Amino acid sequence: MENPFIYGVATHGDCFTDREKETERLKMNFTHGINTMIISPRRWGKTSLVNRVAELLADNDKVKVVRMDTFSCRTEEDFYKLFATEIIKQTSNKVEQWIIDAKHFLSNLVPHLTMSTDPGSEISFSLEAINNKYTSDVLTLPERIAKEKGFSVVVCIDEFQQIADFRHSMSFQKKLRSVWQLQQNTSYCLFGSKRHILMGMFGKPSFPFYRFGDLMFLERIPVSYWTTYIQKRFETTGKHISAELCEKLCEYVESNSSYVQQLAWLIWTFTTDTATDQSFELAKEEIMRQNHVLFQKYIDELSSYQISMMRAIANGHSTDLSTKNVIEEYNLASTANVASMRKSLEARELIEVSAKSYTISDPLFAKWICKNV
Ligand SMILES: Nc1ncnc2c1ncn2[C@@H]1O[C@H](COP(=O)(O)OP(=O)(O)OP(=O)(O)O)[C@@H](O)[C@H]1O
Ligand SMILES: [Mg+2]
Repeated sequence: MENPFIYGVATHGDCFTDREKETERLKMNFTHGINTMIISPRRWGKTSLVNRVAELLADNDKVKVVRMDTFSCRTEEDFYKLFATEIIKQTSNKVEQWIIDAKHFLSNLVPHLTMSTDPGSEISFSLEAINNKYTSDVLTLPERIAKEKGFSVVVCIDEFQQIADFRHSMSFQKKLRSVWQLQQNTSYCLFGSKRHILMGMFGKPSFPFYRFGDLMFLERIPVSYWTTYIQKRFETTGKHISAELCEKLCEYVESNSSYVQQLAWLIWTFTTDTATDQSFELAKEEIMRQNHVLFQKYIDELSSYQISMMRAIANGHSTDLSTKNVIEEYNLASTANVASMRKSLEARELIEVSAKSYTISDPLFAKWICKNV
């Protein structure tokens, strides 16, 4: 039987809910050539949303959506190689055409094609520069293909924050922007999992990608959608769950998309016919048990001051952290110390700060801290 819930990887098909407005907006941007940057806390559904829109446009001959993930790129050269390879591969679905296009558009790159003898296994294709020397004609590739083939191209780059770690990252970002902003038939959708870094790259005037396009902040999926979704997934497998229990579930994980699916799945496994409060309690214990080692690891990597600050935030001190009382109660030393810890905890993506209000990024981690630290 198909798993009724998906978590841990981007979701799709029947396991995708809501995001109607965002889907429409992104589809509009894709079809009208508007650049988009997507920001949200971790695991709220950026990758799933982009995949959804790409699937919706799969049959549209006028727009080719190319998706790539720069997670494993460590250098500019890695980026160029991935960029060139994916654009050639995803703007045509015929293997013979990849070779023709590669020769035509990027004559200085060498195509590598490997075919396994195993039936059903994928053909591996990549493009590489001799001596690892790439030129900026790689960056104009989508535009040249778009013009010649008569469609527009949307390049979606996941884990885009990776490029902030490259050597000479600022000049690389400048180069990307200066080439990309002149393209008329190609647009870009940039997003990733490190919200803090991306906020800097897209939101600070001194950064090259400032005001590059439509900056889209994903909101939480509303509880009403989750309730309908969870009930439906239970029903399709012959089980039941009340709307009230779905609401409690969402509240427990603060509607974090991934945790909603994970907790719903755990409740489902503890349910034979209709979910009960007891199945909910067992599922909560189980989700904490599954995350325990990871949470312990996060804590082990922190200094005792940082741990105290995490405890203070987890215990609800979101806006009064720098007050004398809280600094004394949690032994945070000084306001200057709070400010410097803010920076390091934000950089580790463990906390989020907006409008001077502090929250622990992961709602389960916050609960775990209250109980275990
Ligand atoms: N629209 C949706 N409907 C149902 N579940 C969703 C949806 N979007 C996300 N999820 C759930 O959240 C999980 C994480 O989704 P996804 O990987 O798309 O998030 P992300 O924001 O890209 O995460 P990261 O910040 O780690 O890159 C999915 O596995 C799924 O369980
Ligand atoms: Mg993602």
